[in-house]
Amino acid sequence: MPLLARVVANFAGATNELVLSVDAGFDPALAAQLGFPAVVDRSPGNGPLGGMLSAFAEMHARYVFAVAGDAPLVEADFARRLAAARQAGDEAVVPRYLEREVWRIEPLAALYDRIAFLREGVAAFAQEEYALHRVVARLRTRYVSFGSGAPEFTNVNTPEDYERLRESERAPATEKRARPTRERSFAAFERAQRVIPGGVNSTVRAFKGVGGTPVFMASGSGCRIADIDGNEYIDFVMSWGPLILGHAHPAVVDAVRRAAERGTSFGTPTEAESELAELVVAMVPSAEKVRFCSSGTEATTFALRLARGYSGREKIVKFAGCYHGGTDALLVSAGSSALTIGKPDSAGVTRGTVADTIVVPFNDLDAVRAAFEAHPGEIAALIVEPYAGNMGLVLPRPGFLAGLREVTRASGALLIFDEVMTGFRVAAGGVQEREGILPDVTTLGKIIGGGLPVGAVAGPAEIMDRFTPEGDVFQAGTLSGNPLAMAAGIATLRALGEPGVYPRLDAAGARFTEGLDDLFTRHEVPHQTNHRGSMAGFFFASEPVVDLTSAKKSDTAFYAQFFHAMLDRGVYLAPSQFEAGFLSLAHDDAAIDATIDAAEDALADLFATA
Ligand SMILES: Cc1ncc(COP(=O)(O)O)c(C=O)c1O
Repeated sequence: MPLLARVVANFAGATNELVLSVDAGFDPALAAQLGFPAVVDRSPGNGPLGGMLSAFAEMHARYVFAVAGDAPLVEADFARRLAAARQAGDEAVVPRYLEREVWRIEPLAALYDRIAFLREGVAAFAQEEYALHRVVARLRTRYVSFGSGAPEFTNVNTPEDYERLRESERAPATEKRARPTRERSFAAFERAQRVIPGGVNSTVRAFKGVGGTPVFMASGSGCRIADIDGNEYIDFVMSWGPLILGHAHPAVVDAVRRAAERGTSFGTPTEAESELAELVVAMVPSAEKVRFCSSGTEATTFALRLARGYSGREKIVKFAGCYHGGTDALLVSAGSSALTIGKPDSAGVTRGTVADTIVVPFNDLDAVRAAFEAHPGEIAALIVEPYAGNMGLVLPRPGFLAGLREVTRASGALLIFDEVMTGFRVAAGGVQEREGILPDVTTLGKIIGGGLPVGAVAGPAEIMDRFTPEGDVFQAGTLSGNPLAMAAGIATLRALGEPGVYPRLDAAGARFTEGLDDLFTRHEVPHQTNHRGSMAGFFFASEPVVDLTSAKKSDTAFYAQFFHAMLDRGVYLAPSQFEAGFLSLAHDDAAIDATIDAAEDALADLFATA
């Protein structure tokens, strides 16, 4: 991420209600008289960095009062602090006025090498003014000038004018919305960054796709979550999919509590494992046997090993934009040609590890056929997210999945459906049930653990029995089949077996997607929407999205603005344009309608300030 965006992200929690922005000639007595909590100095004497930091402080203020004048600028105390800060090597201004901190340089200093920050920061500011303005627009900063005749400024020439302005801002609660404060999340993130790389334990949580500071959650119930500052959100992430029943569903909580009381882990077989396996076999059409592990990543890792062991072949075909967890062999980006032999997507993944991984574009059957023709008898498996949910939601074209089935069968390769996301979500039996196409091997995760860590590989007995100890494909895990996780999974799958569940989930997904579709159309926002069951997605893109290349044409900057505007209105969307959204049985019509209303308000506001 460019430095400016990182800096902006870091400032996102540092909000001030009012900032007085002063130019050369500012009379501090006036600020005192008006009772400003914060003052920023953007006089030329403050240097380019000071100017940049002033801009950040202004950006995160709700109102900025700009002052120009000719009187001597800096009060003595301010000057002393500035000199001391600079002497201490701080390079940046940390003024305090009326005991309120304006700059938060310390979090920056903790995060970034200060010198690099200064060097890059100034350049970044100059280069990315456009981005800066967009962020300003998003934050709805309003400029008010003292004594300026400029028409875009509200004129405030006297303390009385100022009082009147504040009064008018306070007045209609329905028109003015206070931005929720997330001070505690901001502090929690600073704390986390000191001991956890990037402050998070899974990359997407860091808000890199939208900027700003991640929100730290405290609790969840149904379709709502609450952060540690006490703000509430309607949740469309739902722990990235597992919580199809809603947060803290009583049946799941109860099952986990009862299991914990009996003992959290034994390292021996338990009956719960067979019970969950029986549920999976009953629900997933191609499953005769199931092997549990603790995550989707483990599931895909073991599935590849199984396919290679079973077929005696080494190459794997995957699709650009499909994500199968952090397993090395699948961390490969798409090349520009259809038959690119993968280049590692992450440092630490060796070329050797991915040398047998072939990447082709999603929805491109010709490319798939060409890959198989180029490597006859060498391809062990083709792995696909049958509804791709990790580049946003991208659905297969009619005939695409059937084509994959045909090509793999003809070549003797296994077809692996990675249903970690779609399993039990788009139908009780996942995409394979919905589309009527059976893979050889299925990987499962997320919902199968009901919010606790479970992954699974499932398939016909003939293939599955190649796993050790019966067969020769190694698999093991200290906490595989963990009793608490099994209990949560059993409670969840049982609840999903109740009549009428999937039609309800489908209806919720449709209401959400159609609501957004209608709204974006009315506001003339270029967009594409998709949903299958309670998995939903939208792209700010003008062309249909069919693969990674078309997904990448989306307006991610606008998504970031929309995301933050929704967050401020109590709706928690995925913090990236390239993720699917998830609804649950707890998302009732009222919650979905409130979300669409919030989106309407957000759009109106974004366009008003753009
Ligand atoms: C399709 C798919 N496969 C595999 C994984 C990896 O699962 P986990 O994060 O549990 O390791 C994910 C995670 O989002 C996924 O969406």
